[in-house]
Amino acid sequence: MLLKKSKYNVAIAGATGAVGVEFLKVLEKRNFPIGELRLLASSRSVGKKMNFRGKNYPVSELKENSFESIDIALFSAGGDQSKKFASHAVAAGAVVIDNSSAYRMDPKVPLVVPEVNPEDIAKHQGIIANPNCTTIIALMAIYPIYKLSRIKRMVIATYQAVSGAGAKAIAELKNQTQDDLEGKKINPSVFKHAIAFNLFSHDSAIGAEGYSQEEMKVVNETKKILHDDHMLISPTAVRVPVVRAHSEAIHLELEKELSVEEVTEALKAMPGVKVVDDRKANIFPMPRAVTSQDDIFVGRIRKDLGLKNGINLFVCGDQILKGAALNAIQIAEKLIA
Ligand code: A2P
Repeated sequence: MLLKKSKYNVAIAGATGAVGVEFLKVLEKRNFPIGELRLLASSRSVGKKMNFRGKNYPVSELKENSFESIDIALFSAGGDQSKKFASHAVAAGAVVIDNSSAYRMDPKVPLVVPEVNPEDIAKHQGIIANPNCTTIIALMAIYPIYKLSRIKRMVIATYQAVSGAGAKAIAELKNQTQDDLEGKKINPSVFKHAIAFNLFSHDSAIGAEGYSQEEMKVVNETKKILHDDHMLISPTAVRVPVVRAHSEAIHLELEKELSVEEVTEALKAMPGVKVVDDRKANIFPMPRAVTSQDDIFVGRIRKDLGLKNGINLFVCGDQILKGAALNAIQIAEKLIA
């Protein structure tokens, strides 16, 4: 645990990226007790300035010696940078909260959603991993149900926003859509396929079993966070032309039969979850409506037609907030509490 202080020196590795920018907004909004703030990115960004609490902070290059006197280092510069620099931050005395997948499955590294497994934070040895965005969003919705009845099997289909692939992917969606509407030739670059007016199987590599890396993250990370190796998980991850909120269709097979009312009440009582389930008006969670919201929205709560113990849900969450920056800063808040 960190020594109790009134203010903490914070470094952000990847400060100029899609998640880095959000780290600053969340730290400011939640009034995190910051002493020194150090913004780090690649050499390309040296000289840039970023605003925090009305003051401009320079961006410097992420280097091995960037972490002297830092208490908390928030990493979101990609897995390679985490592997290269996180150990230097730890050696300098910082606790690293890593947004990449580099350390998530390391048995020495806790993988934490603060509303689900906050007790794991205390087991850290310098690095705490922030789970994959799709996993966090799913867990917020299924954990209150899991507490009522163990989940035997989860079938999950995702509709993932482009923000998960970074700031350049957001720009590609916007520019490509504009170009397509104007009848111009489109040249996919961040993604292999056109993302404007299209969707495709998640752009991460497909493994021997036929599942993408993104799909396997949901499988492995969900089991680690719930400490349940026996849960069966069957994922399909799809990239859709949405800017920054993921949607997920989740089908659960429970050990016990639960009513829609019991599930709805449990979801309503879950901090960080909002139930949006208006069958009459046909209003359910939508990615545009959850954009820039801290909460995960859950709706379409219904019994499976073919399975006595089956419950189905539709879930949306801001991929950059609860799916990344907000969850990491909630971990930091628990760390200093
Ligand atoms: P930079 O803006 O200087 O390239 P995103 O996920 O939106 O693509 O952002 C990635 C973040 O990681 C950015 O802040 C980016 O900085 C940073 N980054 C990428 N590569 C490196 C690197 N080799 N060294 C340090 N920071 C990096």
